[in-house]
Amino acid sequence: MTPAAEPDAAPVRLLVRDLAQLATPSGREAPLRGSALREVDVLEDAFVLCEGPTIAAVGLMRELPSLNGDVVEVDGTGLSAIPGLVDCHTHACFLGDRVEEFSLRAGGATYEELHAGGGGILSTVRATRAASPDALRSAVDTHRQWMLRAGTTTFEAKSGYGLDRETELASLRAIAAGGGIPTWLGAHAVPPEFDDATAYVDFLLSEVLPEAAELAEAADVFVERGAFGVDDARRYLEACASAGLGLRLHGDQFTELGAIALAIELGASSVDHLEATGADGVAALASSSVVGVLLPASALFLGRSMPPARELVDAGAAIALATDFNPGSAFCESLPLVCSLACTQLGLSPEEALAACTVNAAWVLGRSGSIGRLVPGFDADLTLIDAPDWRHLAYHLGGQTVAAVVCKGEVAWRR
Ligand code: NIG
Ligand code: FE
Repeated sequence: MTPAAEPDAAPVRLLVRDLAQLATPSGREAPLRGSALREVDVLEDAFVLCEGPTIAAVGLMRELPSLNGDVVEVDGTGLSAIPGLVDCHTHACFLGDRVEEFSLRAGGATYEELHAGGGGILSTVRATRAASPDALRSAVDTHRQWMLRAGTTTFEAKSGYGLDRETELASLRAIAAGGGIPTWLGAHAVPPEFDDATAYVDFLLSEVLPEAAELAEAADVFVERGAFGVDDARRYLEACASAGLGLRLHGDQFTELGAIALAIELGASSVDHLEATGADGVAALASSSVVGVLLPASALFLGRSMPPARELVDAGAAIALATDFNPGSAFCESLPLVCSLACTQLGLSPEEALAACTVNAAWVLGRSGSIGRLVPGFDADLTLIDAPDWRHLAYHLGGQTVAAVVCKGEVAWRR
C-alpha cells in the first residue's frame, strides 16, 4: 500500500545548474511590441531552481545559495535554458493523414483545388468522425509527445475536424484530457450535410455552442472564400463571446475578406495566418490590441507567400508565432523550426522570435502572468537547448535542438 503523502510535505525541488546561458524575454509586460520585442535578458553560467511546479529562483551560479535537504539536480553544462515554448495555434486533434494529397500537391495540385473537390479539411473530417473518443484521446497524446520533444510545454488545440455535435465535443474533451488548451473551431468548414454556411452556423449555435462553451476557452472561425464570410463569422463569434468564450480568427490566409477589421471590432485576442494581408491590414492591426499570429510553417508547406512580419513589427503590431500543426497545411509540430523560418523568411531576429513563441503566445492564451518567462513565481516550464548559445533555437535549421524539457518542475523529456 502506498502511504498517503504528508499534507505539509515540502515541495520537490529541482535545480538546473551550470547552464551556459539562460535567456528570457525582459520585463513583465505582455504582449510585447516594437523594440520591447527584442529585449531578452541573458545570464551566463546560470541556474534555475524550481520548487514544486513553480520557479523559485533564477540567477548566476556564483550566487547560488547552499540548499539544504533533498534537491534533484539536472546538469546544464553546455546547454541553454529558455522558457518552455508555447504553441498558441494547432489543430492537434485529428485522425488519419493527407500524405496522398501531399504527393498530389508536389505534382502541382493546389490546396484550394483539393478542398473544393471534397478533399482537404473534409477528408480529415471523415477520418476523425470515424474515430472513437479513446482514439481521439490517443491521437492528441501522440501529437502532444511530438510537440514536447520539440520543446513545447503548453499547446492550444482546436476542434474543427468533427463538424458534427458529437465529434466536436469529443474533440474538445480529448484536447483537455491530453493537457491542451481547447479552442472550439466549429466554423472550420461547411460539412456536406449542410447546403450553406448560414444554415451550418445556425446549427452550430443552437446545437453545439451550449456544451462547447463549457469545454473550450475560445472560439475560432476560418474566414475565407469557400469557408465562412464575414457576416456568418460575426454572428458565430458574437454568440460565442456571449457564451463566455474568447475569440480567435483564421484570416487573410488566401484572401483579404475583412477578418482583421472583424477581429478588432469584436475585441478578439488574435487573428491568425495573414499571408495575404496588405498595407491597410498591417496598419489596422498595429493600432489595435489584437495579436497577429504568424504561421510560417503553413506558408512554407503550401508554397505560399510569407506573412508581412517585419512590416507588422515595425508598424507596432504585437505578433506571436505558432506551428498551425495539422495534417493538411502544416504537418509540422516544431516551434524551433518555426523560429528558424521567422529568422530566415520573416525578417525577425532570434530575440523577436523567442518573445513571439513565449510571452506573446502566452498572452494569446490568457496566460502571460504564469508562463512564457523564466522568473520566480512563474510555472517551472523550461526548454533546454543543446548549445551554449540560446540562439541555436533558431539557428539550427531542422536540427535536434532540444536536449530536455521541464514541465511544472519535473523533467518531462530528455534526449
Ligand atoms: O490553419 N485554414 C484552415 N485551417 C487549417 C488547415 C486545416 C487543414 O488543411 O486540415 C490552417 O491552415
Ligand atoms: Fe490553423
